[in-house]
Amino acid sequence: MSTTIPGEPWSTGVARAADGATTVAGVDVRALAAEHGTPAYVLDETDLRSRARGYRRAFETAFAEIGAGVDVYYAGKAFLSVAVARWVHEEGLRVDTATGGELAVALRAGVPGADIGLHGNNKSDTEIARALEAGVGRIIVDSLVEIERVADAAAARGGAPAPVMVRVTTGVHAGGHEYISTAHEDQKFGLSIASPDGDSPAMRGLLAVLARPELRLLGIHSHIGSQILDPSGFEVAARAVLTLRAQLAERTGVLVEEVDLGGGYGIAYLPGEVALDPDRIAKDVAASVQATAADLGTPLPRFSIEPGRAIVGPAGLTLYTVGTVKPVRTDDGSVRTYVSVDGGMSDNIRPALYGAAYHAEVVGRLASAQTVLARVVGKHCESGDIVVHEVQLPADVRAGDLLAVAATGAYGRSMASNYNHVPRPPVIAVSDGETRVLVRRETEDDLLALDLG
Ligand code: LLP
Repeated sequence: MSTTIPGEPWSTGVARAADGATTVAGVDVRALAAEHGTPAYVLDETDLRSRARGYRRAFETAFAEIGAGVDVYYAGKAFLSVAVARWVHEEGLRVDTATGGELAVALRAGVPGADIGLHGNNKSDTEIARALEAGVGRIIVDSLVEIERVADAAAARGGAPAPVMVRVTTGVHAGGHEYISTAHEDQKFGLSIASPDGDSPAMRGLLAVLARPELRLLGIHSHIGSQILDPSGFEVAARAVLTLRAQLAERTGVLVEEVDLGGGYGIAYLPGEVALDPDRIAKDVAASVQATAADLGTPLPRFSIEPGRAIVGPAGLTLYTVGTVKPVRTDDGSVRTYVSVDGGMSDNIRPALYGAAYHAEVVGRLASAQTVLARVVGKHCESGDIVVHEVQLPADVRAGDLLAVAATGAYGRSMASNYNHVPRPPVIAVSDGETRVLVRRETEDDLLALDLG
């Protein structure tokens, strides 16, 4: 039969034996399914760690060449558990959190506050207080209101000024293969650098931080989008941020120490897709910021980046069991084989929400060489409950088959729901032939425990 294993979009630990058995880091998926049940998220620890290391090394090397420091923050929104926070921290990354919940996981993992950043466009007072209490390395403020809120909270606590970065929007929006650069913004995040009349919201934000002695203005933050495969957007945004930094320095004499360029590094979801290469992008961005800083006549800041998907996405796959197979005649007269699995939009909302494309294969047995056009669907009660819109599956795909969907490590479990009262699947780490449950399977009792009758 045709198989894309090994290779992208599968994690580096995925292999296939002559009898069709598929292994992840030496663990046979049949044994894994027998022990832990399906659906299950499977996370290849070695793969995840090497991507974390790869990003850190690529950026450290490229930025060292231009004489600038760089920190890599793992964006926990992609997927965060105590073990994963520990792994990335052991690999020299810091942790970017977007809510009090993510902050709690990072702290539970033992990540020092100084190595954690807190994001969010509407942080609660409790979240701000907890971040200050934990001594987070930076709070990324998102609005003028929030600047005062964080300053008031810091004033109430006393002690050292709270380190903040101001999130700005540069008009660059990237994702997929393209980016667009617009003067204006119509979305909720950050403060715009566009200034049709007087100071831009971004400049006003920076000045507001400088006006509050309870805050320490650490730097400027910009995140331009997600699943970016064309690196030029990063360079345009970096230029805009460095220019704003120079303008602030000219105006106030304060040259902020740090610039964060956000996350968004794209990965391969389908066979034949090519992920953004960290070495290449690091070199390109380093060269570009060096040139910009030289133009502006300002010394380089320390940089940081926040990849999420690129670290955890390719390291994960989802294992399902096929329940039903149904040929359906389509409008154009052709036949599409609907393959229903035991999960669906509750464990991966991305196809339904974004029309995201995935790749699936029958794993665990030899299947027929002949393939059919299939659509993998879930068990939820709506027709948009699609796991894989289009994929060639073996013509003999049948009930009981194990099906693996590639590259589900990012924004799968982290965006999972309990729609239809379906308990969320476990996250099973595999490494050196061993499995380890990182997040256990939810049970109906877990769900019923929330219902007070
Ligand atoms: N930093 C900030 C400030 C962000 O807002 C994000 C993502 C990241 C870093 C990490 O981006 P990544 O490297 O993972 O692309 N749920 C969507 C993605 C939303 C991302 C939102 N922010 C999806 O499933 O594609």
